[in-house]
Amino acid sequence: MSSSVSAFQPLTPQAVTLGLCTKTLGRSLHILDEAPSTNSVAVALAQDGAPDGTVVVADTQTSGRGRLGRPWYSPPGKNLYCSIILRRRPSPDQISRWLSWIPLLSAVAVARAIQVVSGLRPSLKWPNDVLIEQRKTGGLLCESSGTGTANGFVIVGIGLNVNMWRDAFPDTLRDLATSLAAEAGRPFDRAVLLAALLSELELRSEAFFSGSTDIRHEYELRCATIGQRVRVDTANGNCIEGQADAIGDDGSLQVVADSLQDPGTLRTPVSIRAGDVVHLRRDVNR
Ligand code: BTN
Repeated sequence: MSSSVSAFQPLTPQAVTLGLCTKTLGRSLHILDEAPSTNSVAVALAQDGAPDGTVVVADTQTSGRGRLGRPWYSPPGKNLYCSIILRRRPSPDQISRWLSWIPLLSAVAVARAIQVVSGLRPSLKWPNDVLIEQRKTGGLLCESSGTGTANGFVIVGIGLNVNMWRDAFPDTLRDLATSLAAEAGRPFDRAVLLAALLSELELRSEAFFSGSTDIRHEYELRCATIGQRVRVDTANGNCIEGQADAIGDDGSLQVVADSLQDPGTLRTPVSIRAGDVVHLRRDVNR
């Protein structure tokens, strides 16, 4: 990390480009003082034909969006709010695997970038919450359109609490959220972090297509959900409690439900493709 002076500098294209060692990601870079949501800006740019690897960053968001329709707290001058346009074109038989894995693969990239820049070791709460010491420091919101077609794209939206001290969080988040600065006791340069994040993401998305990575293994090593007792509110309105066992080939969370744990019952895990997970040992949800 560079000096603590640069930690509070505004994010500039020059500062980001200086540390960038990617081929594609971040080579087209839009840095905005304010956006409603960088994901919304990125979707509009992608629909207008913006190239693969285009990145939108905003210093603050007025309507930052989280998963499951939640808002994303986005004050100015402190954190990272960015959205990356990916235009990989998976073959028809790769589409579903690509769409399942892109949020998980991106979460691994974010965790790895944090580790490289700060020395902290984040874990992941399935599917893609980034935790430090069981508190949430980042989240991802992926949106896609026309995947597999010539104009298809995926937007990887990343929100990362970087230089928020604990007392700056609103009361509702203070016990559940954290930031890199709060954990490390020093601020971080957002430009350095963004450049690292883009490198890690490019590396993994390329390796995914070339088949040269076992992303499931890398994800499992980071995943704090595996081995936990969990409650899952599934997308179709069911609630399951049980033991999170593993990650499936399709990126799903495999949960052995309590109702399946009676002696004599077949312990086939339930496969969760989408939903809201609570770690029952300690609730790290926002
Ligand atoms: C979550 O709920 O954990 C996902 C949060 C994703 C927030 C980021 S901030 C940048 C991008 N723009 C948005 O509106 N959301 C994502």
